[in-house]
Amino acid sequence: MNITILGPGAVGSLWACYLQKAGHNVCLWTRNSIPSEQSLSLSANENSSHQFKINDKQALIDCDLLVITVKAWQVESALLPLLPLLSKETILLFMHNGMGAIDNLKEHINHHPILQATTTHGALKENNTNVIHTGYGNTSLGPFNPLGKQCQFIQDVLNHSLPSVDWNPEINIALWKKLAINCAINPLTAIHQCKNGQLEQLDIHQYVVSICSEVHEILQKEGIEWSYSELLSSVNQVIKATSANYSSMNRDCFYQRKTEIDFITGYLLKRAKFHGISAPINQSLYNQIKQFEENTL
Ligand code: PAF
Repeated sequence: MNITILGPGAVGSLWACYLQKAGHNVCLWTRNSIPSEQSLSLSANENSSHQFKINDKQALIDCDLLVITVKAWQVESALLPLLPLLSKETILLFMHNGMGAIDNLKEHINHHPILQATTTHGALKENNTNVIHTGYGNTSLGPFNPLGKQCQFIQDVLNHSLPSVDWNPEINIALWKKLAINCAINPLTAIHQCKNGQLEQLDIHQYVVSICSEVHEILQKEGIEWSYSELLSSVNQVIKATSANYSSMNRDCFYQRKTEIDFITGYLLKRAKFHGISAPINQSLYNQIKQFEENTL
């Protein structure tokens, strides 16, 4: 397939390398068009070297699958200028932390088949030319619109490149579960500037418990069947499995970059408001991160 990766950060670069390894014709699209080619080495079980064209307009015109891996807050500004170049058959696949980024774009993109995915693969891009596959995981893929429902074959394409990939007709449920975990881990680790594992300490863990209790009430209103104890034990499992890591929001704050708070806790609060529920602890975490952004950006 002709595939373009929009936003070759860590996750985008990881997929770019594995999709090319599997024989696909892969190009990258970035904010930065110079130089026109990019070498990337993938450090994984089997190391490999890759060469990609960058910002090739013809590749975008011929693109069968556009994988959008920019951060949620970049989706609109990165994608809108490219839409006139795409054929209406081009499949759009969104893969990012958080929810709500494509809701406002719907009228502009709904004539494309749209897919959404969430992945637990770990990737680290230390510099422009090397991506490290830090942890093997799995990817859930599913349709966002009726045209997307006809694109289940993309599961095979992705699974053949970087397994395992499952097809989830109810991808929204998987996205909500990931969002719930991000709500519990990301703002706290950013505010306390600590590694994920430090959330296990009792004085901070009590906040994890209170966040989960508010999140669970909102999940119930959204019709997501996940018991409070399942939610808390999933959060605890992720904290354990990633204990030596810094969360993405921790890193964004550390490097004084814009965070994904509007699409993580911000999205949760929007839905809470819709259901007439208050979520004071999540609101306070949201306010603290927004305050930090205002003071530093
Ligand atoms: O955003 C992140 O950092 C990750 O999604 C997670 C699961 C919280 C692990 O650090």
